[in-house]
Amino acid sequence: MSSPLCLALDVHTLAEAQTLATACAPHIGMLKVGLELFVSEGPKAVAELKALGLPIFLDLKLFDIPATVHRAAKSAAESGASMITVHASGGREMMEAAIEGAGPDVTIVAVTVLTSMNDGDMHRVGIDRPVIQQVRKLGDLAKGTNVKGLVCAPVELQQMRGLFGPGITYITPGIRGDEPVSNDDQKRTMKVDEAIKAGADWLVIGRPIRDAKDPAATAAAMNAVAADALAKYRAPKA
Ligand code: C5P
Repeated sequence: MSSPLCLALDVHTLAEAQTLATACAPHIGMLKVGLELFVSEGPKAVAELKALGLPIFLDLKLFDIPATVHRAAKSAAESGASMITVHASGGREMMEAAIEGAGPDVTIVAVTVLTSMNDGDMHRVGIDRPVIQQVRKLGDLAKGTNVKGLVCAPVELQQMRGLFGPGITYITPGIRGDEPVSNDDQKRTMKVDEAIKAGADWLVIGRPIRDAKDPAATAAAMNAVAADALAKYRAPKA
């Protein structure tokens, strides 16, 4: 069974990313290149990391006018990424522009509400409804487009699956292990087995693996928990 873990390569250099990714590759199913690595190393980071044989999730969270996002998504797709993120709050036209720009070989995924935000943070940016309602609203908007995946917190998964069904890929950051993450900014979190139980297709994990004493061993342990949970909660009914 292939691993549902997506390792966030939140490091500054390609060399660091390659070291981390190579050590953890046997235990994960996808590599995520995010803003830090992409801004410092550019599209070559995607091309070089692809050589490890795992799909690359390019998490740029595009959010601009549709024409700009169309062109940015086209450029991003040329890097060889399999999946690219946009913010659902950029609107339907913007999401469709990303899909068209990226072309048929790339999955465009819509981010709903960042997992670092809670109801108070939402209020401070002028959104006076609970996070879960905003996630549902944006999920609904994204579902009305040809977006193929949704990013939400694991705590929202059950509702999202209930609303939108299995025809879409659910990607969840905000995954935590037993060890606390220092200066943690994530506010809507869950453990690996809980997220699988709730219906996650991909679990995005950064600091719990990156900052572990032994990242490969931590990735292996988290993947073992994920495999057990998949067998327990998702095994096909006889
Ligand atoms: O270190 P941690 O496990 O919190 O990393 C989570 C990763 O997922 C980061 O790379 C972050 O950019 C990304 N992400 C997120 N929340 C979203 C979308 C992406 O934390 N809604």
